[in-house]
Amino acid sequence: MANAFCSRFGVTQPIVLAPMGRVGPPELVAAVSNAGGLGLAPLWTDSPDKMRAEILRIKELTDKPFGVNLNMDFRNEEQLDVCLEQEVEVISIFWGDSANFVERAKSHGVKVIITAGTSSSAQDAVDLGADAICAQGWEAGGHVEGRVSTMALVPSVVDVVGDVPVIAAGGIADGRGLAAALALGASAVWIGTRFLAAKEAPTHPIYLERLLAASEDDTEHYDDLYDLVWPNAPHRALKNSTSEMWEAAGRPPLGQRPGEGDVLATRPDGVKIQRYASAVAFAELEGEIEPLPMWSGQGVGLVTKVQSAEEIVREIVEQAKTIIHF
Ligand SMILES: Cc1cc2nc3c(=O)[nH]c(=O)nc-3n(C[C@H](O)[C@H](O)[C@H](O)COP(=O)(O)O)c2cc1C
Repeated sequence: MANAFCSRFGVTQPIVLAPMGRVGPPELVAAVSNAGGLGLAPLWTDSPDKMRAEILRIKELTDKPFGVNLNMDFRNEEQLDVCLEQEVEVISIFWGDSANFVERAKSHGVKVIITAGTSSSAQDAVDLGADAICAQGWEAGGHVEGRVSTMALVPSVVDVVGDVPVIAAGGIADGRGLAAALALGASAVWIGTRFLAAKEAPTHPIYLERLLAASEDDTEHYDDLYDLVWPNAPHRALKNSTSEMWEAAGRPPLGQRPGEGDVLATRPDGVKIQRYASAVAFAELEGEIEPLPMWSGQGVGLVTKVQSAEEIVREIVEQAKTIIHF
């Protein structure tokens, strides 16, 4: 198919694998790219060496376009160096001030996608030279900067960005969501929560079980619940025992919370994860999983089965094509 997004990024399907820290391994990124979409690798938490290894692994698994996601709240200058050295074609940027960063990436011919939660931040991103905008509605899982719903945000962003492709994110989990996003003027969708149930995603089994059982009403947007490690970054996650005890205590700030300092889980590298940390429940964690943040978008009610990433892409496109011609 030819649309603004597909032709600009050299892909055949208008589907982006949302970057998801620690649950977006090379196998998942490459599977989405091989299925015709654009896989984005969330490498911003990695050391330059680990990152280089992950990029090389993706290149072994696919010869199709893919991208790397970086986080401006953590600056990630060294990580950008690795992307440039490895000639990564697409960089997605979220959070914080990205001005010099975008300039540096663009001067090496990299295509840059910037996540925005309002039409004015989308406009700023276009002024910086963004090649596409990810318009992230507040239905989205994980860290969510804006407070506007996808339905209202996408057309508002489309109206201000001229011919820059808009990718709709937040609450989109099936072909009806893709058809709706295209009808709103987006030229692709950016899907996270649905891909947590991909066979290639290392989602911890307890987290996966909760996702498959959840309804659209089981998530909550929090300004400041999981703010240990990464403060001032609102987010959406499944309600769980941690959120319930924090709510029951009257939503106190860090320093006055119930269970603060509890070590809940341990990573394979030995790092201990405390209650209220902004962590991700990936498969290799040992310990208590349910009280950790289980990031999820409101589209989780539509996530009911485990499938390969290729099946997910195909099913979404086929369903959308029964609704809208593209
Ligand atoms: C488990 C999880 C981890 C995430 N990590 C990142 C990340 O590292 N970088 C990023 O730009 N967005 C991250 N996000 C947000 C997604 O990129 C995307 O905006 C969101 O998943 C879209 O909404 P949906 O979950 O309803 O599909 C994450 C989302 C989830 C669910």
